[in-house]
Amino acid sequence: MSERIALVTGGIGGLGSAICRQLAGTGMRVIAADLPNRGERLAGFRSEMAEFGERVAFVALDVTDFEACKRVVAEAEQRHGRIDILANVAGITRDASLRKMEKAQWDQLMAVNLDGIFHMSRAVIEGMLARGYGRIVNISSVNGQTGQFGQTNYSAAKAGVHGFTMALAREVAAKGITVNTVSPGYCQTEMVMAVPEAIRAKIVAQIPVGRLGSPEDIGRAVAFLAGEHSGYITGANLPVNGGYFMSF
Ligand code: CAA
Repeated sequence: MSERIALVTGGIGGLGSAICRQLAGTGMRVIAADLPNRGERLAGFRSEMAEFGERVAFVALDVTDFEACKRVVAEAEQRHGRIDILANVAGITRDASLRKMEKAQWDQLMAVNLDGIFHMSRAVIEGMLARGYGRIVNISSVNGQTGQFGQTNYSAAKAGVHGFTMALAREVAAKGITVNTVSPGYCQTEMVMAVPEAIRAKIVAQIPVGRLGSPEDIGRAVAFLAGEHSGYITGANLPVNGGYFMSF
């Protein structure tokens, strides 16, 4: 098999860029899809990925735009022949307690965190089915498993992400395609650093491992599920949260 082709949404963000790095590190060709207006971040991403040369590319994409998702997937398939791996990483927070939450905060969050996963998965699935191979990894969150104060929108969407994973996993299990969820805990990303310091300190105090996760902790988990040899793992939800939440 020639090199695998991976598409990562939210690809230049905190978790996204670590995921791109891990996938590229295993020899894949990686397309990082992200909003076009993140100029400074894009420059940082390009220099972080310089060692991989043209094996890591950037494409502008707003995952809330279904037509744009279809176009980006079609162009990548035409250029590289296929997409083997889709990592749905694009996500936002719009934290507010429910009594203060504006309708726009709910709608924006659902459009990115949940509609985006539908748009991208819908766009890649035909090609994966036709080729009989695929790895889809969806990023959820510990807060989709436990709920979090101020995150009715985020927790609902992130719980929904895993529902989507399980349903699609069943639909495509016999066709060589796996669909899994990774549920990060609190990691060192801009998103988490935006949580007020006092609240964040209380959260870190509850993490058994005693620290925030690193984006690489998440990148390694995604690369594992996206790998050739993970074909017997599907519909799973892999928590990577330092023991913050445990269940069986
Ligand atoms: N648990 C219980 N009660 C809480 C609380 C908590 N965590 N936080 C606030 N309260 C209480 C306050 O003590 C206050 O009580 P009184 O009315 O009795 O005084 C009341 O709730 C305040 O409610 P408000 O609606 O006025 O809250 P606020 O506007 O001050 O703040 C918030 C709400 C902005 C959501 C703030 O709580 C916050 O930032 N929380 C952090 C949310 C969070 O963890 N987000 C994670 C972002 S990172 C991420 O999501 C990545 C990932 O996947 C892990």
